[in-house]
Amino acid sequence: MSYFSGKTVWLTGASSGIGLAMAEQLAEAGAHLILTSRRAEVLEQVRSKLAHPEHHQVLALDLSQPEAAAAQAREALGDQVIDILINNAGVSQRSMILDTDLKVYRQLMEIDYFGVVALTKLVLPRMVERRSGQIVTVSSVAGKVGTKLRSGYNGAKFAVIGFMDSLRAEMHEHGLVVTSILPGFINTAIAHNSLSGDGSTLGKEDPDNASGISAEECARQSLQAIAKGKAEVVVGSGMSKLAPFLQRISPSFVRRMVAKR
Ligand SMILES: NC(=O)c1ccc[n+]([C@@H]2O[C@H](COP(=O)([O-])OP(=O)(O)OC[C@H]3O[C@@H](n4cnc5c(N)ncnc54)[C@H](OP(=O)(O)O)[C@@H]3O)[C@@H](O)[C@H]2O)c1
Repeated sequence: MSYFSGKTVWLTGASSGIGLAMAEQLAEAGAHLILTSRRAEVLEQVRSKLAHPEHHQVLALDLSQPEAAAAQAREALGDQVIDILINNAGVSQRSMILDTDLKVYRQLMEIDYFGVVALTKLVLPRMVERRSGQIVTVSSVAGKVGTKLRSGYNGAKFAVIGFMDSLRAEMHEHGLVVTSILPGFINTAIAHNSLSGDGSTLGKEDPDNASGISAEECARQSLQAIAKGKAEVVVGSGMSKLAPFLQRISPSFVRRMVAKR
C-alpha cells in the first residue's frame, strides 16, 4: 500500500505545474486531497479529472493575504484532520534590484514565506496533539544560491528554508516529519507567472525553465522524498541540481559563476 493511501493531504498551488502533477499522482496513490490556489473554477476542473474525484475538496485561498487566508481555511476545515500539508504555491520574480519596487518584495514574502508560516501554524497544533503529521514546503535551489533577477524570490525562498529548519528542530520531540523540497529548473509556467519590477506579471517563458525536467518528474521525485520522510531534497538536473552542492564545497566558484550569467 502506498504511503499516501487514505491520508488527507492539503496541497497548495494545485491548479498548475508541480502542484497539479502532485495532485494527479497523489490521487492515483489513494490520498484524499484538499486542493488550494486562488482560482476555484480551475481547481474544480482539476478535482473532476483526478482519480476518485469524490475523495477530494476544493479550498480557494489567496495566499498574498496570509491572515485572511488562514482565517478562511480555519472556518472551512474546522477540526478536519490533516495528515500532510504541502506548501507548494509560489510566485517567482524577473527584475533587477535597481528596477524593483518595494511592494514587489513584500508580495513575494507574503506568498512564498508568510503564506507557508500561516498555513503551517494552522495545522500544527492538531498534529502535535496527535503526535502525527508531516509539513512539506516547496522552496527552491534559489533558497540556497542567490542569482540575478530574483533578489526578492531568493530572499523569500532562503527565509522559508530557515523556517523549515527551525520547525524540524522544534517538532522532533513531537514526532512530526518536516521536509523541504528544492527544485532546480522545472518546465512549468513559473517564469510566465513571475513578477516584474513594477509588480506586473512577466508573461514570457524563460529558456532555463523550458529546458528543465517536467513537472511530472519533479512531482514523482518530490513525492518519493516525502514518503521517505527526507529532511531536504534537491530535485532537477544539470547545473541547477548541482548548484547547492557547489555552493557548499566552493562558494567562491559559485559567486563568480552567478555574477557572469
Ligand atoms: N518551476 C520551477 O523551475 C521551480 C523551481 C524551483 C521552485 N519552484 C517552486 O515550485 C512551486 C510551484 O511552482 P510551479 O513551477 O508549479 O509554478 P506555477 O505553474 O506558476 O504554479 C504556481 C501555483 O501557485 C499558485 N499561486 C500563485 N499565487 C498564489 C496566491 N497568491 N495564492 C494561492 N496560490 C497561488 C498558482 O495558482 P493560482 O494561479 O490558481 O492561484 C499555481 O497553482 C513554487 O513554490 C515555486 O517557487 C519552481
